[in-house]
Amino acid sequence: AKRTTDKLRSPICAVLGHVDTGKTKLLDKIRRSHVQDGEAGGITQQIGATYIPTDEIERQTAKVKKGSKFEIKVPGLLVIDTPGHESFSNLRSRGSSLCNMAVLVVDIMHGIEPQTAESLEMLRKRKAPFVIALNKVDRLNGWIRTPNTPIQLALKKQKQPAIQDFETRLDHIKLQFAERGINTELYWKNKNIREYVNIVPTSAHTGEGVPDLLFLLVSLTQKMLAKALAYSEELECTVLEVKEVQGYGTTIDVILTNGTLREGDTIVLGGLEGPIVTTARSLLMPAPLKELRVKNAYVLHKEVRAAQGVKIAGKNLEKAVAGLPLYVAHTPEEEEVYKEEAERL
Ligand code: GTP
Ligand code: MG
Ligand code: NA
Repeated sequence: AKRTTDKLRSPICAVLGHVDTGKTKLLDKIRRSHVQDGEAGGITQQIGATYIPTDEIERQTAKVKKGSKFEIKVPGLLVIDTPGHESFSNLRSRGSSLCNMAVLVVDIMHGIEPQTAESLEMLRKRKAPFVIALNKVDRLNGWIRTPNTPIQLALKKQKQPAIQDFETRLDHIKLQFAERGINTELYWKNKNIREYVNIVPTSAHTGEGVPDLLFLLVSLTQKMLAKALAYSEELECTVLEVKEVQGYGTTIDVILTNGTLREGDTIVLGGLEGPIVTTARSLLMPAPLKELRVKNAYVLHKEVRAAQGVKIAGKNLEKAVAGLPLYVAHTPEEEEVYKEEAERL
């Protein structure tokens, strides 16, 4: 398929890390939502997906970009939330395999924890670039809150105890990463983004560093991944969840990584009792900044271009299997080929 780098698709960014480091809260801050408050026990148990459009990124990163000529070329970001609890290793693996770039969230008060290390290994295996969000800076000794401020400005406002606490913890965590063979550096001091992983200190509660995190994701994907983000018509799509939705029956939540899905497409996917061939009757999407995994007022779309999280309604989806690819067949021959593919998996 033809690929052009002047037509970029939205990068997919997965948020990974140990349980309760603040992955969902960071996304809540960006979305101005309260998804985490609605989670049973405050624990994420599914992969989530949220689209952040460029105008929103422009708005939230304005203070960081000030004075620079940086131009946002991607149409938006698709962020994937993953669970940090140890029992959801399969979902972290799925999330990391879908992403172009990852945010590894580390609690600045705790440093590297078991699922931080596990996520790190997954990213290493996939050679996926990532940034480290050193979250919960508001818990540092004597932290002075400066809501939603770029982190360098927020740090300038701090008194000695917070600065001291920050530097001690930062040094310790950099050492922990170094012990695992990963060089890290605060992003504004990082002169070599291919050798050193960027660190961005954040608070999901007060928002310091959150504009920087968004800015980094966009600038790094544009710098490092222009080729990988070239829009391609070749469909790449993965089933995340099989869900009952009132008024639509059984639906599947999918991540469309590349290509275009159209209403009425013949889709082929893996099922518990063999391949399923059906028609994508409706393509439903939450509004921008709304989480796909949370009940929403969905918007119907005639076609959807990658990258996006989409809910597909259609017949015979009850036995669909999560984690497998979804294909679109344009001819009876293609249908047979994809059925064989789906059978093999
Ligand atoms: P899992 O998805 O279950 O792995 O957790 P998570 O990483 O998504 O963390 P979550 O957003 O559920 O936050 C866990 C707890 O940490 C909640 O009580 C949050 O309010 C708190 N928390 C998250 N971010 C921050 C932060 O920046 N500062 C402070 N003080 N607390 C935070
Ligand atoms: Mg979470
Ligand atoms: Na949690």
